Amino acid sequence: MAFTITQKLVFLALYFCFFAQGSKADLLKVGFYNTTCAQAEAIVREEVSKAVASDPGLAAGLLRLHFHDCFVRGCDASIMLVSYPWNQAEIDAIPNKSLRGFEIIWYAKWRLEQVCKGIVSCADILAFAARDSVALSGGITYAVPSGRRDGRTSSASEALQNLPPPFGDVNRITQMFANKGLTQDEMVTLSGAHTIGQSHCSSFSSRLYNFSPNSSTDPTLNSTLASQLIQKCPQSNTNPNTTVSIDPVTPNTFDVKYYQNLLSNNGLFTSDQTLMSSSATSSLVTQYAQNSQTFMSKFAAAMIKMGNIDVLTGTNGEIRTWCHVTN
Ligand code: HEM
Repeated sequence: MAFTITQKLVFLALYFCFFAQGSKADLLKVGFYNTTCAQAEAIVREEVSKAVASDPGLAAGLLRLHFHDCFVRGCDASIMLVSYPWNQAEIDAIPNKSLRGFEIIWYAKWRLEQVCKGIVSCADILAFAARDSVALSGGITYAVPSGRRDGRTSSASEALQNLPPPFGDVNRITQMFANKGLTQDEMVTLSGAHTIGQSHCSSFSSRLYNFSPNSSTDPTLNSTLASQLIQKCPQSNTNPNTTVSIDPVTPNTFDVKYYQNLLSNNGLFTSDQTLMSSSATSSLVTQYAQNSQTFMSKFAAAMIKMGNIDVLTGTNGEIRTWCHVTN
């Protein structure tokens, strides 16, 4: 059967609308820099290894950086851009004030610019560094699809809107992950990142004092942990820099202790302990607490999915020369 020119053009247009575009995430691929900058991932790993060897807590900092980058405007390194008098950037939003590890990304980028100028994006360095941090802390390693490009916009108010708060309950946190295309299961899985790292008192102190008319502390907080936290973070504490380990048992080891802690009401944030308040989430917590292998492989898959959120690829965005400013 012969088609007219017009019919052929319509078929072509339909093809491009439905098939040729693909999703942006399809454009990321493992080994993206193999031919253009073969040392890219090794250099990042080297810098992360040096940093974590001198301060193991930095692994947590780098893992959190990637999460905070991806949840605001996608994984485009918008978290790294500095503010100007006319624009308050993400980095200066309150939940981002406690981020750490920026200098490791800057330095890896500087080294990469010496060997392959203008090739490796800051967004990909953040994704590689998060992966390396998990592995260096004793967790799973996984291949990171790359090819992200860097964004040109960063807004503090968008950070406030998109980053889940530590006082959020299971419905709220689930919804905030759903807004990013992540399931409730993936939310429970990614929360396992709280098996490493530190928190400032302000992120959980509302659970310790004047909690409700009936109880001064949050009844879902283990009373022994509550007393320890009250000691470390007294109500009169004026030092905003005091920190406590999120997982007090193995704070620098990427393991399933976080989930075991939740089973005994030892979750630090409301957003952690709330995972025990619904049957769907609590059954996953119980499963992970007992089965490290299942958790690790699902964590790797969820990190890859998180790393795909709204990525810029192809000719969108740019490859920044310096991670803290646009070109
Ligand atoms: C489920 C919603 C989440 C909430 C409400 C949340 C909230 C927080 C808060 C309040 C802190 C402590 C900040 C401080 O006071 O210093 C923190 C630390 C941390 N978060 Fe989350 N987070 C969430 C999910 C995630 C995810 C998905 C990841 C990574 C995949 C992650 C990784 C981390 C890490 C590693 C730390 C420790 C950072 C350090 O030691 O510097 N968090 N989080």
